[in-house]
Amino acid sequence: MHMEYRYGLMTVQWDDKDKSLVLIDQRRLPNRLEYIRCKSHEQVADCIKSMAVRGAPAIGVAAAFGLALAAINSKAKDKESFMHEIDAAFKLLRATRPTAINLFWALERIMSKARGADSIDKAREAMLSEAVAMLKEDLDVNRRLGDHGSLLLNDGDRVLTHCNAGALATVGYGTALGVIRAAKEKGKRISVIATETRPVMQGARLTAFELKHDGIDVSIAPDTSVALLMARGMIDKVIVGADRVLRDGHVFNKIGTYQVAILAKEHNIPFYVAAPLSSFDLKSKVEDVIIEERAYDEVVKIARRRIAPKGIRVFNPAFDVTPPTLITAIITEKGVLEPPYEQSIASVFNL
Ligand code: MRU
Repeated sequence: MHMEYRYGLMTVQWDDKDKSLVLIDQRRLPNRLEYIRCKSHEQVADCIKSMAVRGAPAIGVAAAFGLALAAINSKAKDKESFMHEIDAAFKLLRATRPTAINLFWALERIMSKARGADSIDKAREAMLSEAVAMLKEDLDVNRRLGDHGSLLLNDGDRVLTHCNAGALATVGYGTALGVIRAAKEKGKRISVIATETRPVMQGARLTAFELKHDGIDVSIAPDTSVALLMARGMIDKVIVGADRVLRDGHVFNKIGTYQVAILAKEHNIPFYVAAPLSSFDLKSKVEDVIIEERAYDEVVKIARRRIAPKGIRVFNPAFDVTPPTLITAIITEKGVLEPPYEQSIASVFNL
């Protein structure tokens, strides 16, 4: 239907005839593979907030189309009132989730097209074509990142991944799971252990689903089993994604990533982060980044059933920060960055 379908699961698609954004509804996975059609920026914002679409690059591209939809739907008669509406949509979309930098990066890219156009029609056209370009770019970037990363994997490797940094977290193909796909395409036999990733279960629900969907060998394991699996020599490498990478190599990613990195260091297992350059934040310091706190019910309930006493206090941070000292290398579309990250990151951005 929507876009050329070359990469297996396509998480974000644009239906140009219907002027709608088509997203896989990830809340329903793995039991049902269903799509949601968004025709307004409010719908897109709801999908991001409720995690129907999630994963840093997927959130970014979805938000870009959200802003383009606001432009398509605008009835404004002059550029000033048009910009007023676009600014309101921009604010709504940017308030959906705080940690993944791709959201802000993508919205800024579309906003600059809106600001730079000298008529409403030109703004509409430029905003939509930028969003379409970002969708295509995401697939291309993931392919290139995957190719670079695949050189780090050996035939027979057993790779642990946390959360979902796959096709479902991007437009398609994935970052961490893109590395695994690329290694498989080169004929290497790779098996994957996906941690469940409490409380939203992106590992058990999403990583397991998409790897099975593509015929890649995958098992799931509780988050709490990582130390034992490593101590038993069952893991050769770890690859995770990132929601934000700072200039000095600190990596924000799904809660639990930091403890996996500590355990990898303790067991001398390489710990790789796969992240496109759109996930890098060259301005912020660790303390500037907001770590999203999510709903109480995610922790006290499993499949809507209460599993903790009423009135219990809960901590539910959605992300943590892994220091650069625990990271063996960061895989990007422009190559594999090694420590010291201050230098390798500066040089990849030509700073
Ligand atoms: O809360 P989520 O599911 O949006 O978190 C996703 C992650 O933490 C991913 O690892 C990250 O966004 C990288 S996706 C290529």
